[in-house]
Amino acid sequence: MTKVMKIVALGSLLAASSLYAVSTAACAGCHGQHFEKKAMGVSKVVKDMSKEEIIAALKGYKNGTYGGAMKGIMTPQVANLSDEDIAKMAESIKGGTGVVTDKATEHAAAAAVAAAKVIDINAKACDPERIKKEDLGNKKEVDETTLGLRKTSLFQEDDVAPPKIKDDRPAPGASQRFERAYVNAPPMIPHSVEGLLPITKENNQCLGCHMPDVAPSMGATPIPPSHFTDYRPTTVYKDGKLIKEGKVVGPDGEIGNTSDIKLAKKKKLKHLNPARYNCSQCHAPQANVETAVANTFKPDGLTGDLKSKSNLADMIDEGVK
Ligand code: HEC
Ligand code: HEC
Ligand code: HEC
Repeated sequence: MTKVMKIVALGSLLAASSLYAVSTAACAGCHGQHFEKKAMGVSKVVKDMSKEEIIAALKGYKNGTYGGAMKGIMTPQVANLSDEDIAKMAESIKGGTGVVTDKATEHAAAAAVAAAKVIDINAKACDPERIKKEDLGNKKEVDETTLGLRKTSLFQEDDVAPPKIKDDRPAPGASQRFERAYVNAPPMIPHSVEGLLPITKENNQCLGCHMPDVAPSMGATPIPPSHFTDYRPTTVYKDGKLIKEGKVVGPDGEIGNTSDIKLAKKKKLKHLNPARYNCSQCHAPQANVETAVANTFKPDGLTGDLKSKSNLADMIDEGVK
């Protein structure tokens, strides 16, 4: 079932891109709005290439005769383009018009992401059979090979090895998203992060595909409104007084403690909240590992849409008075 859904979703993406073949919207995430960036840190700056070079490169990616180590990423970008499309594309890149977006492509791509099924990360880790088997509380006798996480005798070290990790995740755009671990959990990164980490002051490629203005054309989930909001109380230090949300804090102040502020005024920002800049602080790449123990955690309320979407910005104050 999962597979079928994904194929349907990809099918509609491909259909959209061949219909609107000369749109360069899908390129922006990696190459920048004006083709001014080194895509994924490795490509040439395309705007500095000549029209002829761009045409030769795109045709080469299509025929498999051009490219470096990451050419596999470019192949699907150009697979459906005719020579005429490629010429038009090179023309528009060199024309300096920047990225040609078209709404139909964006909508089709956004709809495909939303409709795509997500992988249940906990399916194996929460397997009831396994949980029962590992539940030491029910056993009369626990021998030393079941006691530790490594599941071997505690008296010899010979065959103790860390679990085998398979971290060959597919490239962005080719992976399938994971189910959220609980309601409004930060979604885990389903695609490879090769060349994307570490995030530095100069280089945050996550933004190139996930900022809300480019995400739909990339088929990526847009960064949600919560990341463009400042939820912290406004704080100023004036005349020796600490003032939060307009109230003086302290033994002689209007509020004794900052925790007296239950609901700070939300401040919508016009830019990404800098506190959210370091994406991988909260969103972690994933690898295929056999977990050391079964997971008995079961989230409440993780149903329907919430398995693949968040609504934190809408319900952040829920239950707070
Ligand atoms: C998912 C990221 C991604 C997207 C989307 C993407 N590219 Fe690329 N592009 C790359 C990478 C990575 C390379 C370098 C590949 C290699 O190793 O040859 C590259 C290389 C190129 C090159 C050749 C530059 C060189 O280094 O020789 C051109 C031209 C180009 N891309 C144009 C485009 C156009 C036009 C689009 C949109 C239709 C596009 N790309 C979409 C990542 C991307
Ligand atoms: C080349 C474009 C691109 C780049 C760069 C990129 N992503 Fe993605 N990301 C995607 C796409 C497309 C998806 C949807 C899954 C897929 O098709 O692979 C996605 C999915 C995700 C998801 C899952 C969202 C959900 O709804 O479950 C997270 C989290 C994520 N990316 C985080 C990151 C972070 C963090 C970085 C930087 C380290 C990053 N991405 C860089 C394109 C990109
Ligand atoms: C301080 C932790 C934190 C940081 C840093 C952070 N996020 Fe998130 N992110 C979350 C949480 C929690 C959620 C789920 C609740 C929500 O929507 O806020 C989330 C949700 C998301 C979603 C899913 C939105 C949806 O509609 O389901 C995307 C995509 C995303 N983040 C991308 C990013 C990117 C890209 C960055 C870096 C620019 C980033 N995040 C930085 C915590 C973080």
